[in-house]
Amino acid sequence: MLKPTAKLKGELKVPGDKSITHRAFIFAAFTKGVSEIDNLSPAADCYSTIECMRMLGLDIQLSDDKSGRVKAMVKSPGHFHLHPSQQGLFAGNSGTTIRLLSGLLAGQPFKVKLDGDESLRSRPMKRVIEPLNRMGVCVAWITKEGHAPFVIEGAPANDLELTGAKFQLAVASAQVQTALLLAGLQADGKTTVELPAPVRDHTVRLFRHIGVSMVVDEPLTTAVKKLTEPLPPFKLSVVADISSATFFMVAAALLPGSEIKLLSVGINKGRRLVIDVLKEMGADLSLENECEYDGEPVADVVVRYAGRLRAVTIDGDNIAAGIDEVPALSLLGCLADGKFTVSGAAELRVKESDRLSAMVANLRAAGANVNELPDGYEIEGQNRLKGGSVWQTFGDHRLAMTGLIANLVCQETLAVDDTTCIAVSYPTFVEDLNRLLIV
Ligand code: S3P
Repeated sequence: MLKPTAKLKGELKVPGDKSITHRAFIFAAFTKGVSEIDNLSPAADCYSTIECMRMLGLDIQLSDDKSGRVKAMVKSPGHFHLHPSQQGLFAGNSGTTIRLLSGLLAGQPFKVKLDGDESLRSRPMKRVIEPLNRMGVCVAWITKEGHAPFVIEGAPANDLELTGAKFQLAVASAQVQTALLLAGLQADGKTTVELPAPVRDHTVRLFRHIGVSMVVDEPLTTAVKKLTEPLPPFKLSVVADISSATFFMVAAALLPGSEIKLLSVGINKGRRLVIDVLKEMGADLSLENECEYDGEPVADVVVRYAGRLRAVTIDGDNIAAGIDEVPALSLLGCLADGKFTVSGAAELRVKESDRLSAMVANLRAAGANVNELPDGYEIEGQNRLKGGSVWQTFGDHRLAMTGLIANLVCQETLAVDDTTCIAVSYPTFVEDLNRLLIV
């Protein structure tokens, strides 16, 4: 039996940005005094960061208003007075937490164990640890080389100075760049990080906002020096998360009769592939009230259903700007005219799950015509997606939300095997989707 058709209508402000929230709490370690972080992301990942920072000596008090908007008062002793956590630090499912903390801990005079859940234990850590080794950090792998759990020993723990260095990264990773810059703030001399391609520049923007001095050669190279004094505390209101907003943008572009406005969405250049792709595919998407908020560009994003879309290619040059959005964007490809190609996206194999093989399996099961590539896939667009299958999330939050949107566009019900993992980034996703959904 065919499902009734659905559409999305109305206005929504999605929660605060996860990437920026992680950074705000970790960067607060370099300040002395009480900082205020408002509209923080309610993601379980960010609570992992908050817990780790508490274990290192930050006093973090959270409060929420009636609308559920959460604010934090963060009292930091400064980066010269952090203390080791006897229990170790647990990053949960969060790659950003474990990699950024590695950079912070690089300059600390103690050793501490870092660990995460099963998915995080399977993700590569050498990309951040090897460059930190060059700066003077020691790491002992506990169960498997290159993976959590590991014990990290800051250079000063061995009476060594952390030493600045020049890095040319092989992977266009904002996490690795940020970790090395955080180490650089504690290292002798200059630390320069050059990226192979542009990434989200939240770190540079937030460094500027909180007063870190640096030399930036846009968009690839950033250099910092040792912070000899802690910074003053800061105030930050976190913009709405474009990765969370993506699911609604995609759904509105695919469901006839839809018209939505997503308020105050962060449109950082290193994150806005979803906007460019939707426009290129012929979607009716416009940006209103563009401005800058606490150093980040924001806009209201309006999407109206505008009929059938044209397939496009997302390749290596621009993939970093949509690294977390590829699963959701691929739904557009299933229902577009022509061949939708994702390439240069091998990084997706080492995210919270192997997102390439998981998407191929799920889309095929739902009736899409997909060809897997080593670094992506090709989807032959059709005028329907059958559904009637079980969408497997592999415990990956972005796959779970993509599955729930896929269910809306499928002809027959698509069951998503596990939605609890959605809390990793967007605990109120289902509630927010239901607010916009008209069936
Ligand atoms: C993030 C960077 C990206 C992204 C992750 C968050 C960040 O990872 O996939 O969800 O906050 O810096 P990489 O930098 O490793 O690509």
